[in-house]
Amino acid sequence: MATTFKVIVNGQHQLAVDPSQGTLLEAIEAAGIESHFHCRNGFCGACRTVLLEGQVSYINEPLAFIRPGDCLPCCCVPASDLNIEHR
Ligand code: FES
Repeated sequence: MATTFKVIVNGQHQLAVDPSQGTLLEAIEAAGIESHFHCRNGFCGACRTVLLEGQVSYINEPLAFIRPGDCLPCCCVPASDLNIEHR
């Protein structure tokens, strides 16, 4: 059975995200939320998002620097319920 995590985006949107179905960025886009990205591959950091609560798992280890409390949704999936600020 698929695991789905609850992801709150910008305190306004609540998504149900199945990590086997794609990246966190793809889930944000599928929900019609304005998204920010460039490389979509963990290189540039353009998709940097504040991780207020929860944990993510990286599909491939990103090359862009990740500050504590941030995540790169283009190359990660939820590993728990999340609360994020994607601006
Ligand atoms: S879009 Fe470049 S690191 Fe995510």
